[in-house]
Amino acid sequence: MAKYTSDSKEKVRDAVDMVDLVGQRTELKKTGGASYMGRCPFHEERSGSFSVEASKKVYHCFGCGVSGDCFSFVQELEGLDFKGSMEFLASRYNVELELEDEDPDAARRRLARERLLELLERTAAFYVRYLWESSEARRAREYLEQRGLGEEVLRRFRVGYSPKAWDKVLLASRKAGFSNRECYDAGLAKRAQGEGRIFDAFRGRVMFPLCDRRGRVLGFGARTLSSQDGPKYLNSNDSAVYHKGLHLFGADLARSAAAKAGEVVLCEGYTDVIALHQAGLTNTVGQMGTALTPDQVAELSRLAPTVHMALDADEAGQKAMLKAASVARGRGVTLRVVELPRGKDPADVVADEELGGAEGMRARVAASLPFVTFRVRRALDLGRLDSAEGKDQVIAELRPVFAELPAGALREELTRLVAERIDEKPTLVSGWLSEGSAAAARAPVEAPRRTADGPRPAERPGGPRRRAFSDTAAETERAFLAAVTALPQAGTTELERLDLDLAFTTDLHRRAARQLLAHPGDPTAGLDPEDHDLSALAAELQVRAADMGGSGAVLEAEARKVELAMVDRMIAHGRASGTGGIAELAQRRQALQAAQHRALERAMAETARED
Ligand code: UTP
Ligand code: MN
Repeated sequence: MAKYTSDSKEKVRDAVDMVDLVGQRTELKKTGGASYMGRCPFHEERSGSFSVEASKKVYHCFGCGVSGDCFSFVQELEGLDFKGSMEFLASRYNVELELEDEDPDAARRRLARERLLELLERTAAFYVRYLWESSEARRAREYLEQRGLGEEVLRRFRVGYSPKAWDKVLLASRKAGFSNRECYDAGLAKRAQGEGRIFDAFRGRVMFPLCDRRGRVLGFGARTLSSQDGPKYLNSNDSAVYHKGLHLFGADLARSAAAKAGEVVLCEGYTDVIALHQAGLTNTVGQMGTALTPDQVAELSRLAPTVHMALDADEAGQKAMLKAASVARGRGVTLRVVELPRGKDPADVVADEELGGAEGMRARVAASLPFVTFRVRRALDLGRLDSAEGKDQVIAELRPVFAELPAGALREELTRLVAERIDEKPTLVSGWLSEGSAAAARAPVEAPRRTADGPRPAERPGGPRRRAFSDTAAETERAFLAAVTALPQAGTTELERLDLDLAFTTDLHRRAARQLLAHPGDPTAGLDPEDHDLSALAAELQVRAADMGGSGAVLEAEARKVELAMVDRMIAHGRASGTGGIAELAQRRQALQAAQHRALERAMAETARED
């Protein structure tokens, strides 16, 4: 597919009537200027948290955190890719699209890639037919049935079977006009060493197609039926189209359910994912053989703001969850942990009525633990709690965990749990755990914000509407960036005072800050459309800015809050590395806190006047 010109893209954007477009999905109410609000089309909710800035053609949901522009709106809700969203909007708003002239090299590469994708698609269909129709696959059918996987769900996932013969796929592909070279490039054929003979890569295995978000087959995971036949799973190697660690297994089939629920379930194995879909948890995706990668975390956060990790209940699975948490830090996903019976995986639970079956698995997901609870329990389970030294080690391990846990009921509950398990007084333990950290004393600060209707979020029955961020640093930084967007001039001055590397904890936020310095007040200007993360954040900032309105006091409060968090990190780092300078930092912290309080008081007074 050749690309449309960027000029066409801007023409389409200009022509879009954002209120009309979003209005097809949810009823919108005007809340001032070009701002509108309604119920979020991406998650279930009773009150309206979904805000639209009609003039900028961007949206952001304060409930689930999604954001984007008119193109991503159509992509997400119609299940289209970018090009598809252009075509959809162009036809709806009568814009003529122009294709870019492609250079011949690029055109050749694109065509070659499209042929490989077609070959993979055909081959997946071939394996499916072979599974259900050949007598050779009887054992595979019996195996799948005995694992409790029904035909309906297996067909949904396009599970198949690869014949034992050396060249069935090669022959079928050749008949359809594909060369050996193309089979090799698609990862479907291998070459024997030395003699150079080429043969089918997958033989006599149950085939799981690995797809991208749009459901295009990129490669396969292939499970053996016997224990003497090499590794349990053979996966496609990196090829012209398949790249390990970029995708999540089942993302194409889980996408809409995950968006609706605002939650996604993450498993290790292919069979886990399929078993959970069969059990009704159609918002489940899989890791695909590798440890969770940053790309997969980004993909998870696009699917839903909350991730239930249902990894195998063995040491490897537990380590994988810790690893996942470190990869996910600062990326705006809330991680929860699903408890499984020791040594079992989700597919085992679904298949075994004694372990609870499908019903039991759904209940386990519903009862998942906050990640921090899992973290604390694990430290206690592995610790040697029978000696003072062992207890101190556990406390030391948990200190950084508690440093990120704000004051509240969960902190109290976990403090009590630690006290009970190490058999010491809770008041003592609480002090030990918060030594050297300021987070315990720091109450979460909410800047006042306007809403479409009714009382402010904090007073609204049914709890706050703001997304529960797992990572308060990330949310602090975003709120500040939104305030900078709302008040471009003063905001730029605040940004210029900061060392962006120290003040922000994620690269995405640093890039957003630089973008705001380059385009004050208009973070969506001149963005690379391929840069999905920054585009979504820019849209979020614009909506939040319009929603909070330009207030110097709010800007100042948010700026001090970011600085405070930065100083806290510097203090923690100074303590851990023993580099000193802590006294000065502590002084700076006090001054910042006082400045923040003054700014907050002014902000409160401003809102009171407005009411
Ligand atoms: P498991 O060994 O837990 O497999 O590996 P599983 O999915 O539960 O397998 P079944 O239920 O026995 O069929 C989890 C995942 O790790 C990857 C696969 O993606 C697998 O689904 N894996 C495992 C491999 O890539 N290669 C292997 O040899 C084993
Ligand atoms: Mn498993």
